[in-house]
Amino acid sequence: MDGIHSPDFWDFYKEKLIQDSVLTDFSRDKISLGGKWQYGIDQYDTCLRNRWWAEHEYDKDGRPLPLDYSFDTWETMHIPSCWNLENDRLFLYEGGMVFTRKFEYKKQNERVFVKFGGVNYQAAVFINKTCLGLHEGGSTPFYIEITDVLQEDNRIIVSVNNTRRRDYVPMDNTDWFNYGGIYRDVELIRVPQAFIRRFNVALMPGSDFGKIFARVETDGAGTGIATVKIAELGISEDITIRDGIGEAVIDFQSDKVTLWSPDTPKLYDVEVSFENDRLTDKVGFREITVSGRDIKLNGESIFLKGVSAHEESVKNGRAVTDDEIRENYTIAKEMGCNFMRLAHYPHTQQAARIADEMGIMLWEEVPVYWAIDFNNEMTYQNAQNQLTELITRDFNRASVILWSVGNENPDSDERLSFMSRLTDRAHALDSTRPVTAACLVDNEKLIINDRLADKIDIIGINEYYGWYDPDFSKLPKVLTNSNPTKPIIISEFGADCRAGHTKQGNRDDMFSEDFQLEVYEKQIEMLSSAEYVKGMSPWIFYDFRCPRRLHHMQNHYNIKGLLTADKKHRKKAFYIMKEFYNGQS
Ligand code: GCU
Repeated sequence: MDGIHSPDFWDFYKEKLIQDSVLTDFSRDKISLGGKWQYGIDQYDTCLRNRWWAEHEYDKDGRPLPLDYSFDTWETMHIPSCWNLENDRLFLYEGGMVFTRKFEYKKQNERVFVKFGGVNYQAAVFINKTCLGLHEGGSTPFYIEITDVLQEDNRIIVSVNNTRRRDYVPMDNTDWFNYGGIYRDVELIRVPQAFIRRFNVALMPGSDFGKIFARVETDGAGTGIATVKIAELGISEDITIRDGIGEAVIDFQSDKVTLWSPDTPKLYDVEVSFENDRLTDKVGFREITVSGRDIKLNGESIFLKGVSAHEESVKNGRAVTDDEIRENYTIAKEMGCNFMRLAHYPHTQQAARIADEMGIMLWEEVPVYWAIDFNNEMTYQNAQNQLTELITRDFNRASVILWSVGNENPDSDERLSFMSRLTDRAHALDSTRPVTAACLVDNEKLIINDRLADKIDIIGINEYYGWYDPDFSKLPKVLTNSNPTKPIIISEFGADCRAGHTKQGNRDDMFSEDFQLEVYEKQIEMLSSAEYVKGMSPWIFYDFRCPRRLHHMQNHYNIKGLLTADKKHRKKAFYIMKEFYNGQS
């Protein structure tokens, strides 16, 4: 009965926040828990209020108690998936959902973790009547050690809730579809008693391509020797581990290395060993730096020929497949891209792994989007944790060249403080990559002067002259009035366009392919005149689901795509971008 009378039931779970738990797991021995899970639509969070997960089904004298759940008789859903696309009655559902399944496990002497690649938005996890913790943040992985609760026969329960809230990251108002569910892999990961939690390797910027930074974190043994081997580079380096951490700067013959780039996406086998543990990863070595108003890859100035994209497919929602990622990159390369902005939240870890292989540079971003609750310390801790989990997850990915700490945040002192802290955190976690954010133009003074520009290394600018602001004459003024000391990436420009729609001489002409083409032609012509613009990622690669878009031409989609949502139709503006990028060095 307690569940009825304790409105503060959340406190019990909020005290068990799972943060900064990411392991380096590429070569780990994994067992998938994907497949059919029972599920129950739990609009009132009764599972958490009444602690269904404790399975308290008999009184002290063994008499059966009435239950409001029956896990094994519930309908099933395939996991990983977005529940919205699993059946029509769940398409627009936002709220609580309980998932559960049983699984067997034969334990030997190893330690075992359960990994969730991504659950939107909040996940409370239970195994065998034990509360393992609560994770908040819908796009980053989390890992929980379950060695001591595992039995031969097990039940796992995950209470998911995708309700949007003002103090969350992102907050309750965004311009994308709020999918819910366990939409990335759930896996058991087995490790030795003493193991390598994480290892990071990267070419050190400014080392004349001759030094590699390596960092190893261990668990189960705080001292010892870890060895980093990169056979193809003739590297075998012992690193002393103290208090579970060891770092080294490794000199090597720079004439031996093939630097990673979109044209030469070379990956090296990196092996790290410690005690009885051995991990490998495939890592590209490249240098990304800022020099004045230039962005340099491996010492050469580059122009980032990009496009923005949400993590979405018509069929799978946010639970995109490797094939869908490869299709995106293939079409992007056809358009002449060497760069993609993965908006507005961390995409699956496969996105960067496949970009490493295919040679696409990436902007990765945490969903500090629009008017976040900048005054709320818990909100900041949530944002910082998501940034930490993203950087820890993708540190070894050469394709990731930028961390973005946010998008289009209204300028205020609180916002400046919040995002400056976040920028400092990104720099502290990773000294090998520049930090950016998608900022706004000062539309009164017609100038780029976001105060955050002092903290970030590359300034992203979202501007919609020709669309949200029909007065195109403002753009050249902004470009002339501005005199940034750092590189600028135009991280968004664009216009809605219904594929195939042609001008009819009425109000809907704005949604025609010709109108979008005109916007792109003018944007490209004007932006080309600003030498400090060193990249662009127009909004957006393909149309995407959006509950805010109710015009009959949009039909619940944001249709600023250069492609239709199914990627089958290329709109006219696709070809103007292709022509422009192919003319760029
Ligand atoms: C904004 C925002 C996007 C949004 C886009 C639009 O700049 O960053 O998330 O979808 O503009 O309005 O289409």
